[in-house]
Amino acid sequence: MPFFNRIHLFHYESYLQQQLHQLKENGNYRYFLDVNKSARHFPVFYYESGGITKRAINFCSNDYLGMSVEEDVIAKLSFTAHQSGTGSGGTRNISGTTKQHVSLEQTIAAWHQKEAALLFGGAYLANFTALQTLGRSIKDLIFISDERNHASMIEGMRSAGNQKMIFGHNDAGHLEEILSSLPLHQPKLIVFESVYSMNGSIAPVRDIITLAKKYNALTYIDEVHAVGLYGASGAGICEQEDLLQQVDIINGTLAKAVGVIGGYITASQTIIDFIRSFGSGFIFTTSLPPAVCAAAEKSITLIQQQSSQRTKLFHLVEYLRRLLGDADITFTENSSHITPVRIKNAVECKNVADKLLTQHGVYVQPVNHPTVPKGEECLRLIVTAKHTREQAAHLVTSLKQVLIEEDTYHMQEQQA
Ligand SMILES: Cc1ncc(COP(=O)(O)O)c(C=O)c1O
Repeated sequence: MPFFNRIHLFHYESYLQQQLHQLKENGNYRYFLDVNKSARHFPVFYYESGGITKRAINFCSNDYLGMSVEEDVIAKLSFTAHQSGTGSGGTRNISGTTKQHVSLEQTIAAWHQKEAALLFGGAYLANFTALQTLGRSIKDLIFISDERNHASMIEGMRSAGNQKMIFGHNDAGHLEEILSSLPLHQPKLIVFESVYSMNGSIAPVRDIITLAKKYNALTYIDEVHAVGLYGASGAGICEQEDLLQQVDIINGTLAKAVGVIGGYITASQTIIDFIRSFGSGFIFTTSLPPAVCAAAEKSITLIQQQSSQRTKLFHLVEYLRRLLGDADITFTENSSHITPVRIKNAVECKNVADKLLTQHGVYVQPVNHPTVPKGEECLRLIVTAKHTREQAAHLVTSLKQVLIEEDTYHMQEQQA
């Protein structure tokens, strides 16, 4: 008898299928909508359903300023691609550093009033690599992390293996308790975000930096959802609060308000040179295409020059919230551009989102676990600088109708 028949074998496919089944049962399985994005009609897009092309309005894009469809940015991308080709063809060390990379890094550093910047394939990789590299290199470093930090930071810290202490979300008091319990000479890194992407809260950045200085900690801030939107030149919350030179390391993305792709960190020359020299996720991967760098730089230049798009966006957010209030739809109050509407239950959240799309042409992605803790499922409403007031009004009337139909309107009110 063959050896295989005598032992209980592990069934890979059925094990994985069982996990997927569980995910579906919990309502947390992720269904993607195939969006046919339109540069001409954004935020309107098209999708296929039952062989028919349908039209809907996107209310969940992070292309906050609509820079991905800006004519000058598109032109820069295609012009540079024609000049330099599509890919860079190399890691940064092996022919993958082009003049577009160097120029973009200088622009980013100057934007954030830092000495240097370093590009990555995305902000996820930038967070992961920077935290992993610092943790692995400074053996006694303790990470002090906000409990709502993004997965990219959590995974970076975890992979470094250093001790980690978690402070309550945006709770400077709790942070101080932790800091004061540690010896002053102990190396420590406070890791947090400025605008939290799912609940839209904004960190008490000034208080956190003051504490960091008092207890000799380094600060690492993820400004992914703030870059392009806050501050006089759109550099983020640190610019708005006049703290750019106080924070040690800033992480940002080129994929959301900047409308292209890629991520970065910016800091002192020494910190950047260190991550450049020791960061595995920086060293061992092909660099961004030159055309992408040129387009991102063009977009940043436009953002710096035009505050009108930011102003338009914030006026529209205000308008949307006024309409939601008038319709008695409860949303999580915050001072950012993100408007979460809690639905409290993953299955219901998906039902509401499905009805909005199929019956009203409104696309809002349900946000489920593990992106948010269980019980905090929500619809994350986003209006961009390209939406109109009429579109925002259509969202609210549609949402109200669906909530009433689904009998969640009443449940929703109880959360107030
Ligand atoms: C807070 C935060 N940090 C980092 C990232 C990763 O950014 P990127 O899409 O550039 O990898 C995201 C989401 O995409 C995010 O929400």
